[in-house]
Amino acid sequence: MLQLTLPRPDDWHLHLRDGATMGAVLPHTVQRFARAIVMPNLNPPITTTAQALAYRERIVAAIPDGGRFAPLMTLYLTENTPAEEIVRASESDHILGVKLYPAGATTHSDAGVRNLSRVMPVLEKMAELGMPLLVHGEVTDPGVDIFDREQRFIEQVLTPLLERLPELKVVLEHITTREAVEFVSTAGENLAATITAHHLLLNRNALFSGGIRPHHFCLPVLKREIHREALLAAAISGSPRFFLGTDSAPHPRHTKESSCGCAGIYTAHAAIELYAEAFEQAGALERLEGFACHFGADFYGLPRNEETITLVKESWTVPQHYPLGSGTTLVPLRAGGRIGWRIANG
Ligand code: NCD
Ligand code: ZN
Ligand code: ZN
Repeated sequence: MLQLTLPRPDDWHLHLRDGATMGAVLPHTVQRFARAIVMPNLNPPITTTAQALAYRERIVAAIPDGGRFAPLMTLYLTENTPAEEIVRASESDHILGVKLYPAGATTHSDAGVRNLSRVMPVLEKMAELGMPLLVHGEVTDPGVDIFDREQRFIEQVLTPLLERLPELKVVLEHITTREAVEFVSTAGENLAATITAHHLLLNRNALFSGGIRPHHFCLPVLKREIHREALLAAAISGSPRFFLGTDSAPHPRHTKESSCGCAGIYTAHAAIELYAEAFEQAGALERLEGFACHFGADFYGLPRNEETITLVKESWTVPQHYPLGSGTTLVPLRAGGRIGWRIANG
């Protein structure tokens, strides 16, 4: 039987939420990943070092017995974040970055940034301290077509920002377009990008196959096939500027299966397996290790993991749903379908 042993991978973009939801989803990540960058878009958001450290304690307390997992924390940037908060964050070993949500761009982004010039002193401090900025890269102008919002963000926001602060380390999160791939490939080495498994496996047809598919709706929204192909080419390229970030985003089933369903795809239940599937389809399984296990750690200046994980090429059926606490459930990606890889003894 075909097996693949890798260093234990890391997830450089993850939503864990809090409370019972966190307790329900965390085991999926702990089974697969050694570390994960935990997104701060709780309600209310995690905006201070003290809040991030308290949130980290809650995550650590929820790690199942015997699990070894390090949550890496982020702060949610608001127009009121003082530069001193960045200094405090940079003094903590547990806080790895600051997250920029353009206000209104995505789930729980209302407290985000409306006008980038208002956070410029904070961004200057981050550049000075070497604190990475993690970016949800979409403009929010309702007049801009939703499929163009990432490209427009790169042109109108990211390019001028990197020109103004060339020292700033930036991760363009969950990229979805050929333009983003080209931009990151040709930019300076302070810029990297994460890529989700769902953007490697699906194009926008998945939103409408046989009817509207709320469980395939995320932001940035799935794009055309040419973009999926460009993302896959970047992921398997061996370039250290592209690395794994699942953006696994749990939402209760009823909030997605709704007249106004919310954005986010849940992949933590099978994250590394889904990436293995994408890399295998591209004939590039040997490139999975760099993408999933090395490049993110290198970019963030952390040691690579020494423990290993083994994937077995054996298919299994994904449950229709998982419990999410408080009587709710979530519908994972590929619900009721099959995945061709599983974790050994997982
Ligand atoms: C994320 C969530 O649910 O928190 N949703 C999503 O569609 N990706 C937010 C985000 O990462 O933009
Ligand atoms: Zn986002
Ligand atoms: Zn996200």
